[in-house]
Amino acid sequence: MNIGIFRFRITVSPSRLNQSMQPMTQNATRPMKAIILFDSMSTGGSTDQFIEAIGQNLARTGAYVEKARCRENGDFSFVDEFDVVVMGAPIYYLLVSSQLLGALSRSNLKAHLKGKKVALFVACGSPEPMAHLLYLPQLKMNLENPVILAERVFAPDQLKNPEAAADFASQIIEAYDRSLKP
Ligand SMILES: Cc1cc2nc3c(=O)[nH]c(=O)nc-3n(C[C@H](O)[C@H](O)[C@H](O)COP(=O)(O)O)c2cc1C
Repeated sequence: MNIGIFRFRITVSPSRLNQSMQPMTQNATRPMKAIILFDSMSTGGSTDQFIEAIGQNLARTGAYVEKARCRENGDFSFVDEFDVVVMGAPIYYLLVSSQLLGALSRSNLKAHLKGKKVALFVACGSPEPMAHLLYLPQLKMNLENPVILAERVFAPDQLKNPEAAADFASQIIEAYDRSLKP
């Protein structure tokens, strides 16, 4: 049985309002809606902070942004409401964090990701080439006809670096803009 997933809106904190970021697309007829699906063994740690930072950077461009921690038996039908799905988690013992990987293989998440615009990331201590070879495919192999806007590997120290989150968010926005062009 699928269970409901807790979703949280991410809005721009006053301290970030003055920071510059390209306003969103000239092409969009309405603000982009993005959901960040993630998992981590820790709560309130560097992954949580990173997710919040990505969300704030997206929200600063005018996007509507929510985040949701994955549950392997969750009901992910709400994903249909979103234009973009940002999805990622840390690696533990060579595998993407279990609730995200479990959701992809056991819940209805995979079905609701079909054809979606996605941005993928993993956080891990391994060298980047290894992560591209072993870890990102664990996410990609569960996607049918995706439009991949960005795929990135972050080292643990980068999760605490605001520039890394801002750079990832810019990459997502730019690729989304391009995807809207006829
Ligand atoms: C128990 C444990 C196992 C880990 N296993 C791997 C691994 O197999 N490969 C890897 O590249 N990194 C591994 N890491 C590093 C984590 O992916 C990395 O530190 C990540 O940023 C942790 O995110 P968190 O702070 O949200 O838990 C492991 C970390 C922990 C704590």
